[in-house]
Amino acid sequence: MDQRDRPFRSMLYIPGAKERALEKAAGLATDAIIFDLEDAVAPETKAEARNTLAAALRETDYGPRARIVRINALDTDWGADDVAALAGLGLEGVLLPKVNDARDVEVLAAAMPDAPLWAMMETPLGVLNADEVAAHPRLAGFVMGTNDLAKELGSSGRAALATALQTCLLAARAHGRVAVDGVYNAFRDAEGLRAECREGRDLGFDGKTLIHPDQLAVANEVFAPDAAAVEVARRRIAAFEAAQAAGEGVAVVDGAIVENLHVETARRTLARAEMIEKLKGDA
Ligand code: COA
Ligand code: MG
Repeated sequence: MDQRDRPFRSMLYIPGAKERALEKAAGLATDAIIFDLEDAVAPETKAEARNTLAAALRETDYGPRARIVRINALDTDWGADDVAALAGLGLEGVLLPKVNDARDVEVLAAAMPDAPLWAMMETPLGVLNADEVAAHPRLAGFVMGTNDLAKELGSSGRAALATALQTCLLAARAHGRVAVDGVYNAFRDAEGLRAECREGRDLGFDGKTLIHPDQLAVANEVFAPDAAAVEVARRRIAAFEAAQAAGEGVAVVDGAIVENLHVETARRTLARAEMIEKLKGDA
């Protein structure tokens, strides 16, 4: 399946070594799972986590959830073994951390011929090179690493990340890639999460990366077209088609102009809503 034909409203990180969470994830309402071998796994348990995860991926049916594994960077002691352990699993993605440029993606592409590649955008250099990273033919999408980015910049707060978030989004869209926003650390604060999800959605992101199952419902709701949006989309399409049949190039709905480009957006809204409905049926 093309990565743009699936929803990525929610992408839940699961530490690769946590058997309970690996099992639990198969029943959670998440569009994608990021099985983590990088920062959520301590150096002394890297090998064990890799084996635990590879076994879980072979034995567990994760249904329609996209299975993406975040490996260790290829210049660490663990990266090459991570890649070797994932060969032939038919994953929906391998996520490379701390990507600085297209060469980093190319090294992974050569080592991993059979999986869509994803890039963590979390270094200043990576953000500055977002265009060439997004342009790599094997790249499926970006995941924003906002914690690392803030650490590297010495910044605090979301506002300080606006340029980086938008630069990555521009690059992703220029090359037709998926773009998923960073995590919201205070995982018990649902209202704070909701506000940040809305902000990410309005910037144009496809979804949000999450760290706890309690965050799933909010992200799934905010990043899905709601009933009102679907209804407006239907009316815009109908009005535009009626206008066209009458020989007009534009229509008016609710006092606002509807042109061809708005109809394209409306059709995309309906397609997303359908895709999400179908996913519910498969889960
Ligand atoms: N994925 C799947 N299940 C998860 C989960 C996750 N990310 N986080 C928690 N759970 C499960 C727990 O196993 C527990 O299941 P159970 O009650 O059925 O046994 C349940 O959800 C409730 O967990 P809770 O006690 O509320 O959380 P915690 O205190 O055990 O863990 C964190 C909190 C933040 C440590 C944990 O959520 C976590 O490790 N998140 C992922 C962190 C990560 O991957 N970071 C790297 C990228 S930023
Ligand atoms: Mg990181």
